[in-house]
Amino acid sequence: MRSLGSLGLILVLVGGGALGSACAGAHEGVDGAGAAPWGRGAHEGHGALVEGERVTAGQRRSGAASSEVSGAVGTRMPTPARARGAVAVAVNQGCEGCHEGEARAWRASLHHRANTEPAYQRAFALEPLPFCRGCHAPEGVPTEEAPEAVGKLGVGCVTCHVTGDAPGMLARGARLAELPVLAAPWRGASAPPAAPHGVVRDARFGGAEACAGCHEFAFPTAPGRRLSELMQSTISEHRASASAGQSCAGCHMPEGPDGRRRHAFVGSRDEGFVRSAVQVSARRVSATGVEVTLSPANSGHAFPTGDLFRRLSVSAEALGPDEMVLGGAERFLARHFELRAGQSGRRLVSDDRVHGTPVVVALDVGDAGVGREIGWQVTYQRVAHPNGVEARAASVEGEVRVASGRLAP
Ligand code: HEC
Ligand code: HEC
Ligand code: HEC
Ligand code: HEC
Ligand code: HEC
Repeated sequence: MRSLGSLGLILVLVGGGALGSACAGAHEGVDGAGAAPWGRGAHEGHGALVEGERVTAGQRRSGAASSEVSGAVGTRMPTPARARGAVAVAVNQGCEGCHEGEARAWRASLHHRANTEPAYQRAFALEPLPFCRGCHAPEGVPTEEAPEAVGKLGVGCVTCHVTGDAPGMLARGARLAELPVLAAPWRGASAPPAAPHGVVRDARFGGAEACAGCHEFAFPTAPGRRLSELMQSTISEHRASASAGQSCAGCHMPEGPDGRRRHAFVGSRDEGFVRSAVQVSARRVSATGVEVTLSPANSGHAFPTGDLFRRLSVSAEALGPDEMVLGGAERFLARHFELRAGQSGRRLVSDDRVHGTPVVVALDVGDAGVGREIGWQVTYQRVAHPNGVEARAASVEGEVRVASGRLAP
């Protein structure tokens, strides 16, 4: 149990003006300065909470609705480059103290490790742009190395939930009760339990827009937002998918036994989850040929989605005595990019990932396949930044065997 008074910590705000310049072209609206982002109504009804009053998450109080407001048109969804520094870390500790379940799951998530994960650190070492920091250390100032605590926070509770703090608000010593905390529309039948802070309910936060600020963006040097210029395109892929009606949270934040949404945000590191994205079958179409069919299953977007160097390897091999590989073929399903001379960005040339319809991959293992067993497999791969190396030779940082099998002669 934590006393509200101890949250008087929420005091000094690092100026709101320090938003990353490199991101400017890539994220419209990153710099959402201007009007107070929460509606005027947000202030009304914030019951004056007595300092020191004790409330824990889950505990019901009367006057429930008093802290609730609906998101006004100006409510801003989460964005990169918030640059609130140490204040964000302090406020986040408050969230963690009251919401233990969410905190435990979040601490084990890649959101929390966004700036410290070795895979990111290796890529950042090759391309150390302020642009990268905007998303991977969103509470830091993009043009500077984040102080340790701010870098370690990664994408925090505050980054997603406290988007409505007007510049200077925290600096003026905003109290917990005044903090506008974003939430999805209430799902329960009875009135929501009261919170010791503002709760701004916005339908967009229950949908893909809660994620769009960071999960879809252009290369820093790209002139626009056409698909060919996007470094990640998960939101557009989702919109075009058969799961468009299902929110990102629906799959990535399933409800736990307590009816509350999980904050582990599993993805590429969860083998079962990765496998659930497609159904795979294979058949022999000739003495040396195999057809592997990948049909979208529990997939809310293209498979793979996310980072530009994710790919699927689809391969087949003619197997001799003692499993000796006598011939084979391999294809990569991915977004295929070309480097653009003199520019740091890439340009999409083709995309053969699994979208809404089955993908059939034909492979021929060569003459060695005649009269022999053919083994096949589909593997999801996290490829390291190729750093000029041809995709085939690039190093794979992690992989998941999605499906495999053997076909008799
Ligand atoms: C002093 C304890 C306390 C602190 C600090 C606190 N919360 Fe809460 N919060 C509650 C309580 C109690 C509720 C209402 C009951 C519930 O939903 O668990 C609540 C409700 C919420 C809700 C609404 C859930 C819903 O949909 O009904 C969200 C979202 C939330 N808090 C996030 C946060 C975030 C983010 C922070 C940090 C900025 C934070 N809280 C800080 C106690 C706290
Ligand atoms: C990457 C963004 C993100 C981060 C980080 C994040 N949340 Fe959430 N959280 C959400 C979204 C989105 C929802 C609403 C999902 C829905 O119901 O559609 C939510 C829901 C909640 C709820 C309501 C849960 C329920 O189902 O009743 C609470 C409470 C909450 N978050 C607290 C926290 C706390 C505390 C942290 C940090 C430990 C945190 N969140 C980190 C995005 C985030
Ligand atoms: C402030 C930016 C930001 C917001 C908002 C955000 N994310 Fe993320 N997310 C990231 C970053 C950065 C990573 C990569 C962390 C890493 O691996 O370095 C990430 C990673 C993830 C992963 C794990 C990817 C993997 O490889 O396993 C999932 C899943 C995810 N986010 C889902 C969501 C969903 C769903 C939402 C909306 C509810 C959301 N995120 C909102 C920045 C954000
Ligand atoms: C129908 C369920 C479903 C929905 C809806 C969904 N996803 Fe996923 N997502 C998955 C599965 C399964 C995977 C693992 C396979 C993969 O990597 O694509 C995944 C993987 C991811 C990854 C990690 C990709 C990687 O390989 O590193 C991210 C990031 C992500 N999703 C973000 C989102 C966002 C953002 C949304 C909403 C716009 C969303 N997802 C909607 C099922 C879903
Ligand atoms: C607009 C937000 C944004 C920007 C800018 C951004 N990233 Fe990311 N990055 C993400 C998200 C979201 C993910 C999660 C997708 C996934 O895991 O597939 C991610 C994932 C990654 C991963 C995979 C991490 C892992 O744990 O496997 C690497 C590596 C990475 N980014 C490097 C970079 C580098 C280097 C830059 C700058 C050149 C950069 N990113 C800029 C949002 C961003």
